[in-house]
Amino acid sequence: MSVQRNKIAYVTGSSRGIGKALVKLLLQNGYEVVGISRTNDFTADNYRFDQLDLTDISAVKNYVFDVSGDEVVLINNAGAIGEIAPTGSVSNDSIHKAMNINTIAPQILINTFIRQFSNNSGKFHVLNISSGAGKRPIESWATYCASKAAIDLYSETVALELEWKQKNNWFIHSCAPGVVDTRMQEEIRSSDIQDFKHVDNFVAYKENDDLYTPEYVAQKLFEVISKPESFKEVIISVRDF
Ligand SMILES: NC(=O)c1ccc[n+]([C@@H]2O[C@H](COP(=O)([O-])OP(=O)(O)OC[C@H]3O[C@@H](n4cnc5c(N)ncnc54)[C@H](OP(=O)(O)O)[C@@H]3O)[C@@H](O)[C@H]2O)c1
Repeated sequence: MSVQRNKIAYVTGSSRGIGKALVKLLLQNGYEVVGISRTNDFTADNYRFDQLDLTDISAVKNYVFDVSGDEVVLINNAGAIGEIAPTGSVSNDSIHKAMNINTIAPQILINTFIRQFSNNSGKFHVLNISSGAGKRPIESWATYCASKAAIDLYSETVALELEWKQKNNWFIHSCAPGVVDTRMQEEIRSSDIQDFKHVDNFVAYKENDDLYTPEYVAQKLFEVISKPESFKEVIISVRDF
């Protein structure tokens, strides 16, 4: 039995970066927010933190969305770039972890979310945070690219299923956020050129102030969250709207 409220957002990767900016914006806009990550240093009215390690797939399988509402959104934002190096030089563990965080856990959460709420009235939305790296190969990011391509195609497939089953109150998007000034970019910039041939480009993005702020990206994502029916394509990019 879930509790019924007005506007609810479940946000993975809520502890920093894009996720944290989104949590704050959603709270300002009257959402009740459940943040999901391994760590949390944030408290606010209408905010609850659920500690969950997305590499712990048994725990992910057991996760329950216990609050429903008139509008409910699941934002699969947590992500990991993994070890940045050519294939053969990364640990097998890094591949396993990144795929779990970026691809397997979001699919399980989406499956649970749809199963739990599919007969509810109200508006339901899944917003996956993808990447341009899911649309083209980038050396030393093989697992990251593959994980984001997978979540894009997964989202398109689920969209077809929702249409087939005439779930007109359900929406799903997979949105690339652009290059954003977060810890993930710090990790990318700290790569050795021997491991990542494009590292200088990413250092230059920072030096030239070419990165989006997490707050800007949160605003753009909020446009999708507040009017999912206006975004007809499943795969979208903040660069395009
Ligand atoms: N920054 C960019 O330029 C960029 C570009 C394209 C796409 N993206 C995508 O945008 C999303 C957000 O990235 P970001 O840049 O904001 O990254 P970030 O600052 O590194 O934040 C990553 C978030 O994911 C959470 N996370 C990582 N491992 C986790 C785990 N095992 N279990 C649960 N949560 C975990 C972290 O929380 P804890 O450490 O507390 O668990 C953190 O809240 C990701 O999906 C990323 O792939 C980012």
